Order: sequence, then C-alpha cells, then structure tokens
Amino acid sequence: MKKNYIAANWKMNLTRAEGVNLAKDIVTAIKNGKNKYMIAPSFPLIQDVGAVLKGTNILLGAQNMSAEEKGAHTGEVSPLQLLDLGVQVVILGHSERRNIYGESDELINKKVKLALSHKLEVILCVGELLEEREAGNAVTVCENQIKKGLAGISANELKNITIAYEPVWAIGTGKTATPEDADAIHSSIREVLKSIYNETAAAEMVIQYGGSMKSENAKELLAKPNIDGGLIGGASLKAETFAPIALVE
Ligand code: PGA
Repeated sequence: MKKNYIAANWKMNLTRAEGVNLAKDIVTAIKNGKNKYMIAPSFPLIQDVGAVLKGTNILLGAQNMSAEEKGAHTGEVSPLQLLDLGVQVVILGHSERRNIYGESDELINKKVKLALSHKLEVILCVGELLEEREAGNAVTVCENQIKKGLAGISANELKNITIAYEPVWAIGTGKTATPEDADAIHSSIREVLKSIYNETAAAEMVIQYGGSMKSENAKELLAKPNIDGGLIGGASLKAETFAPIALVE
C-alpha cells in the first residue's frame, strides 16, 4: 500500500500573516499524520510559510514556475529563486494555468524538465473540461496531456513526478467526480504510463485526485485502488477542513 500524498494548493489566497497562522494550525493538526504532505502557498507567502514548515512532515511547494532560469521574463519566477526559498515541490500545468493563462502542453513540458533538472519534485496536473467530458473525450484529453507533459522524461525521472487528475468541472465547484469515475480515469492514466514506460513505473506512480475533495468524500475517493492522494484547493484553507483529509489512511 502506498502512503497517500495530500497536497494543499492555497491558490491566490491569504496574506503572509494569515498564511503563517494557517500553516501553524495545519502543522499542529497533522503532526502525527502518516501520509506525505505538501503546502503550496502563493509566491509572496513562500518564505514565511517555509519557516513554519521547516523540520515538519510537510513539504514546501510552489504553484507555478517559469520555464526559464533567468533573464528578461517580467512577472515570472525562476526555479533558482524557488530553490533559494527552500521550495521542494512545484505544481505545473494546473488547469487554471492551462485554461485562464493559456499555458500549452509544450510550455508545461519545458517547465517539467527544468524543474527536474533542479531536483524539484513536480506535481503535473491533467484533466478535461466539462465539454470534453460530455463529448466522451476525457480519457483522450488526459492521455494527450500526459504524453506531451512527460515527453523526453525518462523512467528514472518519474519517481520525482506525481500526477494530479483534476477534472476541470470539479475544481472549486463543489461537484466531485464519483469515486468510480475518478478511479477509472486514474486507471487509464496508468495504462498510458505503462505504454510509454513500463508496468512497474505505471504501478508506482502516485496519482492524486483534485476537484472539490473534502472531508465528506475523501475517505471514499482515497479508498479506490488507483487514487493515491489529493490536491486540495478550497478545503486546504482551514486546518479543520484540511486535517480530516490529510489524516485518512
Ligand atoms: P478545489 O481545487 O479543491 O478547490 O476544487 C483543487 C485544485 O484546483 O487543485
């Protein structure tokens, strides 16, 4: 049995003081948790939240990263700057980056490679839009995003990658994929990994579910054989809503 990997994506929320308080509350609430944990605050909070997480069982994450190391890239944040802040994990290809800010699979792939070259762990997000699901294309969309996102990545590098399946229609909407639906897509993602890499790599890949995961549905989702964790948005903004998910074994 793999440990669950429960990650908090705070998105564009909280001031530094609020983030520090929330991080402290979460540290206390899950200090005896047996799973793998990560918190990704927005960039301005990383240093202060990082100081709270140091020496705890929670990794420090970032929600995005530039595809370049340095130079004339106004508004971008370099992997070198993230490393300098103690960041260990970076979320890439989140659907909000893909769909609101137009990030392409090619750009995301470039970021994945750059992050890995700097020994940052990656959470690569994939997931279909509502119209893609309704047209029966959910599996194909995820397959394409995986193939393009992982282009040029070796089987050996996969151990530093987690995949988050986040159906876009379930993010922040209160609608969750049923455990059966989510598990079916996770299983198809493993088939894709098997076809690109091998059976062991596919079986070992940690695949998180994201999209309105909350204490009420986490246990059922995480009990599914192909669901190895969660990427949590809304419910990660309070220790009392995040901890019950984080503590599911
Ligand atoms: P949500 O967000 O839990 O608020 O649906 C998940 C995510 O986008 O990572």
